[in-house]
Amino acid sequence: HGTSKINSRGHLEIGGCDVTDLAKEFGTPLYIVDEVLVRRRAREFMDAFRSTGLRHQVAYASKAFCVMAMCRIAEEEGMSLDVVSDGELYTALQAGFPAERIHFHGNNKTPDEILMALDANIGCFVVDNFIELQLLNALAGEKGKRVNVLLRITPGVEAHTHEYISTGQQDSKFGFDLGNGTAFRAVETALAQPNLKLLGVHSHIGSQIFEVEGFRMAVEKVAAFAIEVRDRLSETFAVINLGGGFGIRYVEGDTPLPVGQYVHAIADAIQSSCAAANYPLPEIWIEPGRSIVGDAGTTLYTVGTSKDIPGVRKYIAVDGGMTDNPRPALYESKYDAILANRADDPLVETVSVAGKACESGDMLIWDLNLPKVESGDLLAVFCTGAYNYAMASNYNRIRRPAVVFVKDGKADLVVARESHRDIVGNDIIPERLKKQA
Ligand code: LLP
Repeated sequence: HGTSKINSRGHLEIGGCDVTDLAKEFGTPLYIVDEVLVRRRAREFMDAFRSTGLRHQVAYASKAFCVMAMCRIAEEEGMSLDVVSDGELYTALQAGFPAERIHFHGNNKTPDEILMALDANIGCFVVDNFIELQLLNALAGEKGKRVNVLLRITPGVEAHTHEYISTGQQDSKFGFDLGNGTAFRAVETALAQPNLKLLGVHSHIGSQIFEVEGFRMAVEKVAAFAIEVRDRLSETFAVINLGGGFGIRYVEGDTPLPVGQYVHAIADAIQSSCAAANYPLPEIWIEPGRSIVGDAGTTLYTVGTSKDIPGVRKYIAVDGGMTDNPRPALYESKYDAILANRADDPLVETVSVAGKACESGDMLIWDLNLPKVESGDLLAVFCTGAYNYAMASNYNRIRRPAVVFVKDGKADLVVARESHRDIVGNDIIPERLKKQA
């Protein structure tokens, strides 16, 4: 998919770059991002919305992969940006991302984070709870500002997804519950705050979703709520945000819909709910993360050791693992991979791909069919663009890999590989523990 292909040398090529050359130039593990594919995904969302005629914002959920170069692409493609921490906000601002297109999420924004966002004049706060409503109103007041807010509501829609990554159920740490009157009280409270301008509501029903039914149900619930608010308080919402969660294909058997189908299902549901109640059409916002960057990312590893347990299993180990991709260990996520330097060779053995961390759970892929694997081969694991670099850690003091963007035969380093110096960069030896000369 994207610009990937097997070239005449039998090597994997992405964005016109032979990955064996990338390995030589940048080392491994290496995150490779197909820039053309990222832009294509962004345009699919934008084009689908444009064809609905609805006013809209597509906010890239930067949590999926937040580095300055990615913020530049999001801006160039006309997207807004969803951030959830001072770190993501700082990254966006450093990249020069227009503050008015930044939306600030999170269920426990600290006063410092709120102040930073107020100073930057971001476009919108997505408020999660009553404590935040009061805090934001007070801090905005101190700054002499009136800020746009959406209220995150929990619609009680259970999207079909892995348990650990669903956030739309009733029993969730996020948002104001719709079912028990909490969301209505939140609207009343927000309207009573002089320094908050209530734009509307937000709902996010889960992640890696393959069907439109959950989105339709969420729209219907949110629309019914909007109508209730209008009828009881004479307030209409200018914005309804339906979050992210659009699925991608990691392995055979994953069946995401084309992006346009999600967008059209959401648009149809909004249009018919509004028409039925004579409700003015709000602006629709969504927040795709995974579906923008997920399948554009590939991680390139060097194979090192192997262990064959006759009759049981053959393990091969790569020079990364759970530190650059914790998703298999956290969510039992499945990935597909090929031998990037002998991509045309027949698949003759079944191996399981282990990482190098000191932990039995550090396995990337179970039972993968590959050509005969040798030490020094390059393994390319696909669909690692979302929640990989973003969730990478320094466990075992393993250094985080570099990230390159590839396009038209050129590779640009967008995140340098961490150095040994970086690893101890924040360490301090107290005077009394210093080694005497
Ligand atoms: N908006 C909100 C409010 C969210 O909570 C999320 C994801 C998104 C948008 C973007 O969702 P996406 O389009 O990427 O599915 N670490 C997990 C995923 C956690 C998603 C959390 N929220 C994983 O690796 O699968």
